[in-house]
Amino acid sequence: MRINASLLDLGMCVSSTADLVSPLLVDHHRRTAYLASRIGRAMGLDEVSLGRAVLAASLHDVGALSLGERLDTLDFDTRSVEHAEPGYALLKEFEPFAEIAPIVRYHHVEWQGGLGAEHLGTPVPVESNVVYLADRIAVLMDPTREPAHQTREISSAILESADKRFNPETVLGFVKAAREAPFWSGLAAEGHALEPFAELGLRVCRPVEVDLSSFSKMLAHIVDFRSRYTAAHSTGVAASADVLARVLGMTVRDVDSIRVAGHLHDLGKLAVPEALIEKPSRLDHDESLVMMSHAYHTGRVLGAISELAQVADWASHHHERIDGSGYPDHLEGRDLALGARVVAVSDIFTALSEDRSYRPALGRGRVLRSLKHMAKVRYVDGRVVEALSDCSEQVHAAREAAQERAREHRNQLVNA
Ligand SMILES: [Fe+2]
Ligand SMILES: [Fe+2]
Ligand SMILES: [Fe+2]
Repeated sequence: MRINASLLDLGMCVSSTADLVSPLLVDHHRRTAYLASRIGRAMGLDEVSLGRAVLAASLHDVGALSLGERLDTLDFDTRSVEHAEPGYALLKEFEPFAEIAPIVRYHHVEWQGGLGAEHLGTPVPVESNVVYLADRIAVLMDPTREPAHQTREISSAILESADKRFNPETVLGFVKAAREAPFWSGLAAEGHALEPFAELGLRVCRPVEVDLSSFSKMLAHIVDFRSRYTAAHSTGVAASADVLARVLGMTVRDVDSIRVAGHLHDLGKLAVPEALIEKPSRLDHDESLVMMSHAYHTGRVLGAISELAQVADWASHHHERIDGSGYPDHLEGRDLALGARVVAVSDIFTALSEDRSYRPALGRGRVLRSLKHMAKVRYVDGRVVEALSDCSEQVHAAREAAQERAREHRNQLVNA
């Protein structure tokens, strides 16, 4: 399935959601991308190289799967750099991001008077140096204070580490860019990152045709790999929904869409701390509200890409119920698309078949009995549950095989 979208929009939609996980991180990727664009331009990078630096900056910390890891990276002198390797491996999975994956891989390599131009025998791209500097400036900024009041302390911290930590060429770029008026005030403005990118006319900002299936698979891994309990969840939902949609006679195009919706249904969970996802007991009232917000975030992120309207509808309504008691929009049965009902049943089928922090996996007989009960009390669509019980062997096998592959993949990443 192919859609037209700009690579920067795709990158930003992932990381802006991940940055919602803590108020301390809000806008981190956007700020870093903005800074990278200003520094790179002042350095005189060509359009291709500048585009790569900005795109890599917009995604640089996607490999920091846990909140703890993310918060560690906010320390200017952080030693927590392990996230660079999984970030590289995840981004490589999606062909249009493959060329920026090495930039992300080396975004914490220090310059060390020139020794850092190579890392373990491989040349470090200059774009990595740009992202590194932009990222460190972003973490030095106190978001609660006016940027213009921090220019002196930030500049002196950077200059102090020039050559030791930062490629002097990038530092010169920063000094030059910081003298221009919009540099600091641009950081204060709401939605600051958008306008300079458009003005740079970068290739990464122009719509291109991309393969949505492989993009959504990569996103599913970013979402799922944060916790061993959910390591293969979205993959399982996509595989189950795929079989169910075929059995229900949906068109080839709709089957494609439903696989994407399955991969992306929990995208909004990037905004939920993994401590809640892994909590070994029931969530309290406030925690439940945070957890439930993920369906809203899924819709918000996907809704921003106009060609994804149907996928956004199906994915974000996977917790709606036929009787209207679900969330986030409290839709009733007559307003719930078949696609959303199929994703809902696939989600429950997959979730109950998996171990959770608060209970072990249930056997297939019990899973089907639970779903039939949910159909009876009008939580889920009875017709979809019936289709599932008719082909449960097939759905089960497809889900198991897909999830096995995803778990192996996560083990490789985590142990790398
Ligand atoms: Fe980082
Ligand atoms: Fe960062
Ligand atoms: Fe969900």
